[in-house]
Amino acid sequence: MIVRNEQQMKSIREAAEVAATVLDRMCQLVAPGMNTYDLDQSGRRFIQELGAESACYKYQVGSRIYPAYTCLSVNDEVVHGIGSIDRVLREGDIISVDVCTRYNGYIGDNCRTIAVGKVEPEVQRLLEVTEESLYAGIREARLGNRVGKISSAVQRVVEKAGFSVIRDFVGHGVGKSLHEEPQIPNFGKPGNGPKLREGCVVCIEPMVNMGKYGVKMAEDGWTALSADGSASAHFEHTVIITSDGPEILSVPAGKESPALV
Ligand code: MF3
Ligand code: CO
Repeated sequence: MIVRNEQQMKSIREAAEVAATVLDRMCQLVAPGMNTYDLDQSGRRFIQELGAESACYKYQVGSRIYPAYTCLSVNDEVVHGIGSIDRVLREGDIISVDVCTRYNGYIGDNCRTIAVGKVEPEVQRLLEVTEESLYAGIREARLGNRVGKISSAVQRVVEKAGFSVIRDFVGHGVGKSLHEEPQIPNFGKPGNGPKLREGCVVCIEPMVNMGKYGVKMAEDGWTALSADGSASAHFEHTVIITSDGPEILSVPAGKESPALV
């Protein structure tokens, strides 16, 4: 787990602000009739306008290279959906907009699932519970706590609501690369995992299925879907652990950091 100095923290703060600003702008564009290729292209432009780079584009896992600039996952898609001209958003859909950017040599990563127009009450509840679980996790991102405190707090909120946390993907430390130590699962026991230290920067990101937690891979080799076809939501913030407690860094320029109480 890497501990940052003041100068590094300043750079990381700016990087996370850029990622949050792009996410905000993209979410404002989401509407019935829009296709996810155009939304991704808007993301590409916003990232460029802010002088940053996409940390997803050409991201490599084994021999696979990610072809899009942001991850756009609709309905039963859990994570890593690829924008497509054929994927036209309709009223009642949900879409997870996941933006990770490189700026100043550092990465900021954040995600939010939003409703396209009006959605069914149970789907709306999925979004609210997943966001609530993110904040429950962030509140435990404190000096001396083990990573498992975050994990178990997320899991408790999700399972109390009758939903399931994904096992196959986890949150992560972040810095010069997108995925650093430690892993931050969204399930587990409070006493598990390494202790959090001052100056650690982590991405906490609950991924929640309305049904069972199993996932399957789409034919494109990237998009993860819920195995049972149920709707899936994903919320993520980049957070730094300070002596005063957790501080959310993925806040759009000019906006207040969300309250943690
Ligand atoms: N925010 C995503 C993550 O942390 C970004 C993945 S980049 C991709 O996993 F190329 F894998 F899509
Ligand atoms: Co992430």
